[in-house]
Amino acid sequence: MACPNVSWGCLLLLLLCFAWMGDAEYAKYKDPKQPVNTRIKDLIGRMTLAEKIGQMTQIERSVASADVMKNYFIGSILSGGGSVPAPQATPAMWINMVNEFQKGALATRLGIPMIYGIDAVHGNNNVYNATIFPHNVGLGATRDPDLVKRIGEATALEVRATGIPYTFAPCIAVCRDPRWGRCYESYSEDHKIVQQMTDIILGLQGEIPVNHTKGVPYVAKNKVAACAKHFVGDGGTHNGINENNTIIDEHGLLGIHMPPYYDSIIKGVATVMVSYSSVNGEKMHANHDLVTGYLKSKLHFRGFVISDWLGIDRITSPAGANYTYSVQAGVNAGIDMVMVPFNYTEFIEDATSLVNKRIISMSRIDDAVSRILRVKFTMGLFENPLADLSFADQLGKKEHRELAREAVRKSLVLLKNGNTPNQQFLPLPKKASKILVAGSHASNLGYQCGGWSIQWMGGSGDITAGTTILDAIKSTVGDATPVVYSENPDDSLMKKNEFSFAIVVVGEPPYAETVGDNTDLTILDPGPDTIRTVCSALKCAVVVVSGRPVVIEPYLPLMEALVAAWLPGTEGQGIADVLFGDYGFTGKLSRTWFKSVDQLPMNFGDPHYDPLFPLGFGLAINSSQPG
Ligand code: BGC
Ligand code: BGC
Repeated sequence: MACPNVSWGCLLLLLLCFAWMGDAEYAKYKDPKQPVNTRIKDLIGRMTLAEKIGQMTQIERSVASADVMKNYFIGSILSGGGSVPAPQATPAMWINMVNEFQKGALATRLGIPMIYGIDAVHGNNNVYNATIFPHNVGLGATRDPDLVKRIGEATALEVRATGIPYTFAPCIAVCRDPRWGRCYESYSEDHKIVQQMTDIILGLQGEIPVNHTKGVPYVAKNKVAACAKHFVGDGGTHNGINENNTIIDEHGLLGIHMPPYYDSIIKGVATVMVSYSSVNGEKMHANHDLVTGYLKSKLHFRGFVISDWLGIDRITSPAGANYTYSVQAGVNAGIDMVMVPFNYTEFIEDATSLVNKRIISMSRIDDAVSRILRVKFTMGLFENPLADLSFADQLGKKEHRELAREAVRKSLVLLKNGNTPNQQFLPLPKKASKILVAGSHASNLGYQCGGWSIQWMGGSGDITAGTTILDAIKSTVGDATPVVYSENPDDSLMKKNEFSFAIVVVGEPPYAETVGDNTDLTILDPGPDTIRTVCSALKCAVVVVSGRPVVIEPYLPLMEALVAAWLPGTEGQGIADVLFGDYGFTGKLSRTWFKSVDQLPMNFGDPHYDPLFPLGFGLAINSSQPG
């Protein structure tokens, strides 16, 4: 026994040392082996009121910094439409920005990671070079939930490419009136089609395990948290006026607008966004019965409820007239996270004083924070708060563009083909002496992407990488077939040339939200003139690029063929694939096509249903390639 005292002494010291270290560092909430509920309880028990209210606060990236995150314990950041770190920012620039904010959040006493959200509503559409998929109205026409799930998977990867773990999608509105400016964000007027399309959630968040408890959010590693929006009745507002009032009885609300929420919750959706609109005169942002009573209690939704942008402000009119009341009404209705998004000090001060005065209870705050933490724990944000470049090469990659092209092909709806059934005009021959392409939307990538593309309102021209319809036509026809493009030709062009036929591409200009509200639903000028001039002189196929059915009946007799292409996104090649017969037409209308706007609203099943083309309409041709 050379030196027993020394070694025993050392051992004791070492043990003491470990015990002390463990005491300081072991916290149940940090231990991924603990059940999520244990971690939530442990963490909530450690949090001050300021830390809790910070978790409930979501701010816009333009007002965020590492210091703001740290000093106010901010729980979440978003990019509003078009809000990017720099024009044409690369994935590395996005990741650096997100990580910079995240480091601020991690530097707080408890180190709770923030969650960054973005509107990736048809691909990661704010991001330069991302794949932009067709808007939901076109996806509804595919009737293909598996395709939509694969789009969700691709979108998750492209969102992760920018270091972001959360998207405000899908919009599961059931648009009942095409005059609504957000109708293209809706898969269909038929809730059953919208319900099927909620499979996109399984793509975004990952396939939910069997026996998963209903209502509990599920987000697999490296997927993104989704957001079913806008709860509820957003697509049913009076005359399709955005953010307006949905007048409806219980049967209608639960039978038309609510069903997609049942499916989303079963599929494990992590978050739900509240609608700006009202139900029977009551603002949804203040609607305790529907948000807490129905969504949380009856449907057992256990993820978090997020407000819309300035959504609680709009509880009063004018908006922001009594912000303290807005905070009280919104949080007490059951909103867990508030998309403030700018004046966070005001939100934090008001919420704090309402809790101190017991106008908002501590149990309400704890419910909100538990739900936010549940999502963060579930998706592994505590374990992997910082992004790296490992997904950067997913952005706009070839496989995703191929998938978008497939979606475009399947979303096209053939509405007319020849003047008699045995005189079909499509498919078009690839070999022709000369083809005329015309129309405002033939060579405009921004227009074919629509709103929520690079900018909130969308844009015109070369907004990002992609293939215009004109380029697609050029690369599809034979080398010996000249393609002449003239946006709005006059008669002389047709007289001077021997065209075999014409393709006219017209439609709506890009828009988003209220700016898109429209009572006329006419195509952008000079579209009608272009159709008249070209189609009177030549046999023509008309392709309509629009977020909804538009006035077309007056021009129908002039054209040989009519194709609804919706808002196809960056992969215009999908349109040429089908026009020239490499693939067949399989799309079916996800909406009723009206004859004139004074019929609106008009949905399938209505007593006086008298459409130009009914819901479900869509002609087929065989896909064999003509000579
Ligand atoms: C949109 C945001 C957008 C902002 C622009 C909001 O209504 O949702 O995404 O950035 O308006 O003012
Ligand atoms: C829209 C939401 C969107 C949010 C954030 C709001 O204006 O209504 O759909 O998620 O802005 O951009």
